[in-house]
Amino acid sequence: MQHSIILLLLLVCISCNSCSQSNPKQTGNAKTGQQEIKVGGNCEGCEAIYESPVSFEQLNEVDTLPGFNEPGPKIEISGIIYQRDGKTPAKGVILYIYHTDKKGIYATKGTESGWAKRHGYTRGWMKTNEKGEYKFYTLVPASYPNSNNPKHIHPTIKEPGKTEYWIDEFLFDNDPLLPEAERTKNKPVGGSGVLKTSMKDGMLRATRNIILGLNVIDYPKQ
Ligand SMILES: [Fe+2]
Repeated sequence: MQHSIILLLLLVCISCNSCSQSNPKQTGNAKTGQQEIKVGGNCEGCEAIYESPVSFEQLNEVDTLPGFNEPGPKIEISGIIYQRDGKTPAKGVILYIYHTDKKGIYATKGTESGWAKRHGYTRGWMKTNEKGEYKFYTLVPASYPNSNNPKHIHPTIKEPGKTEYWIDEFLFDNDPLLPEAERTKNKPVGGSGVLKTSMKDGMLRATRNIILGLNVIDYPKQ
């Protein structure tokens, strides 16, 4: 009798253990044709990352967004994308960004197709280099017209072997509309997106480092 109780306890223990080890979900990605780990939950519009006018192979770490030469406050935003350990630079990571114009509108030309109809033409794509670096040049966006929404830049990430996912928006520390909660956020996705800008050589500059998978749903531990 005692033996069978021990055996039962042992079986329960083993089955509990296997329950707690969730396997990453693989998915066939129609865009890349690869089997990839599904991460980040649902993300409406994240697939816009595949609308890059240049193939992922040909992308590099720097982009200048359309409209940069128009009047308005120019900004250079750069940083390093790290692996989940927060230390190892991640190369070959695609970063897609889009944002509003100085009127707070996702400006279109009327000729757009796909997600550009909603994201507008002020968007860009980069692929991190060996050092994990990315950089882009653009005009500072404005908040939506007549809104309390802080100005922001939407980022999407695509790293090798995983599906595309969103991370926290780029936000501006000096924006009066920025809620205090954004500055003190507990679990920023990909790391804090709040930018501290400084003026250098006639242009605003800001840095944001990104940690892949940080606070990202279904992101594998390893
Ligand atoms: Fe937005």
